[in-house]
Amino acid sequence: MATTETTASGIGPVEGGSVHNVDNPAPLIEAPRKRTKKSPKSTRGNFEMYGWLFMRLSGIVLVVLVLGHLLIQLVLDGGVSKIGFAFVAGRWASPFWQVWDLLMLWLAMLHGANGLRTVINDYAERANTRLWLKGLLYTATVFTILLGTLVIFTFDPNIR
Ligand code: HEM
Repeated sequence: MATTETTASGIGPVEGGSVHNVDNPAPLIEAPRKRTKKSPKSTRGNFEMYGWLFMRLSGIVLVVLVLGHLLIQLVLDGGVSKIGFAFVAGRWASPFWQVWDLLMLWLAMLHGANGLRTVINDYAERANTRLWLKGLLYTATVFTILLGTLVIFTFDPNIR
């Protein structure tokens, strides 16, 4: 067989000629990364996939919550000058605005914290630096969410 000759598959002849035929088939090579019954179960879970999805979904909800918030606080009814204790007290008298603000707090904090977690993972090169930055981030996040939630639910308009 001349060396320039090709087979029907377009692949040239292997050096030394093929020893495989119908009675002696070539061994099947599995596709790389193909999962078989023998391959170990992944222990990584789907956390990053759900995180990716959460960033998109919370982003969509935040557009409505944040733009609505800005419109009410800063544009309608005389703008920012109307904001004061009485204005806040009036709004938090309604469960609707309590839930609005609560949702905005939780989603913005979790969205922002998860986004910063990504930034830290991307930019902090030393394992120790990542550990400390994320420790600080998680502490600040939990603190802010708990304090904000407490304030929304325990706000007392008659405080002196
Ligand atoms: C108002 C509507 C918002 C939308 C539509 C939105 C959308 C998104 C999306 C889709 C991502 C993922 C980007 C990626 O994976 O490459 C992202 C990342 C991020 N978001 Fe938001 N977001 C919003 C509000 C916020 C708020 C209020 C905060 C802060 C509290 C925030 C902080 C971040 C941070 C720190 C990241 C990570 C940036 C990065 O990976 O480079 N976002 N945002």
